[in-house]
Amino acid sequence: MTDVRQVVHELLAQLGSSREAQQYLKEFSGTNQARFAVVKVGGGILRDHLDELTSALAFLHRLGLIPVVLHGAGPQLDQALADAGIKTERRDGLRVTTEAVMSVARPLMYKENLRLVEALEDKGIRARSIQHGVFQCSYLDQEKLGLVGEVEKVDLSAVESAVRRGAVPVLTCLGESPSGQVLNINADIATRELVWALQPHKVIFLSPTGGLLDRQDRIISAVSLTNDYDALMQQPWVHSGMRLKLQQINEMLQKLPDNTSVSITSAAHLTRELFTYRGAGTLVRKGEEINVHEAPDAETLGRVEKLVEDSFGRKLREGWFESLERPLVLLSETGRAAAVIVMGVDGLPYLDKFIVTSEAQGEGLGAAIWQVVRARFPALYWRSRNTNPVTPWYFQQADSSNRSGQWVVFTLGVEDAAQRERCVGDALERDSGWAPE
Ligand code: ARG
Repeated sequence: MTDVRQVVHELLAQLGSSREAQQYLKEFSGTNQARFAVVKVGGGILRDHLDELTSALAFLHRLGLIPVVLHGAGPQLDQALADAGIKTERRDGLRVTTEAVMSVARPLMYKENLRLVEALEDKGIRARSIQHGVFQCSYLDQEKLGLVGEVEKVDLSAVESAVRRGAVPVLTCLGESPSGQVLNINADIATRELVWALQPHKVIFLSPTGGLLDRQDRIISAVSLTNDYDALMQQPWVHSGMRLKLQQINEMLQKLPDNTSVSITSAAHLTRELFTYRGAGTLVRKGEEINVHEAPDAETLGRVEKLVEDSFGRKLREGWFESLERPLVLLSETGRAAAVIVMGVDGLPYLDKFIVTSEAQGEGLGAAIWQVVRARFPALYWRSRNTNPVTPWYFQQADSSNRSGQWVVFTLGVEDAAQRERCVGDALERDSGWAPE
């Protein structure tokens, strides 16, 4: 046992700091064992990335985390139907499942399911094939769609039994009618129903792209439904597949506790996504509101003070916060991100404090609070130490920077050169408020 622990510890240490990894390991182990995660695996991953997938799942299993796996077989089925000369049609995004289609789909599903189970066992971990008995269905629209199921009830007993025995449950997305007719369920819908019934801590979608992509095809690291959803849905570059995915995730998360999150990542990046702050993929959460306090009360100031002191590991002078003249405070609901803005030179806003805990950065809370600052202040300035890990990020946000000794002064939206200089002069003379060490 100690051997395994050692290996695990080393592996985790390579991913980032082992402190991060330990923190998440503790978080994920803290939930009821069957409720750690639902992992949806697309058919394309089974076909092209089986080894990466099973390595990542086996790794989780060795850590004592048992994911519930649900897979599709879409691309394989398209191929098999084409080979058999059977025409396949989609209506409202769902595969019309005639008897001929089902006669190909059903054995294919079993085959893919066993392939995954065997590959997991080859990695030395227990896995259990669950092909039936989970999704109790009615016909969604027999006339229009044929043998497509609408999930009426989810029976978790087979899943829970597997997890109790330490085996990874591997589910197909086939359901049955009350009389035993096998029905086809769209994999994303099956995932949603399973997730609602199981209420896992994490929901993971594995896709070859490894996340949602922005306009330049870069992976969007985090999406907060509260802060980003409406704006994202209005972007012309959000194509229909991604729009649908976002809508489905939004709908799914609304019926889950606030701290449940969805990760979209690739098989190869799964471990990094789960055990680091920054992750590797797209993290979607309900997110939290950023509250604006124009006249912060003592409690709000106290929360910000504590956040500042904890994240810098230093104390502020007694009464420093209270001495600020009309500070504007932005504070996230959970108190893990804050900004303090005071009136600076020429009446321009000076960003005096900007703090986001590392964990909250990974959730995209830094970007969320920054957006609120930006929306409110067309122009502002601030400073940061060279050694501050956030400084490189500030360079990306600012449109002017000025190095001086240990400081960099940044401005954004300050057009006039003389005024920019006044900002720099003022920022360099400011008092951070730290108590003498
Ligand atoms: N490891 C954490 C989790 O799985 C945070 C992941 C952050 N991921 C991201 N793409 N920003 O919940």
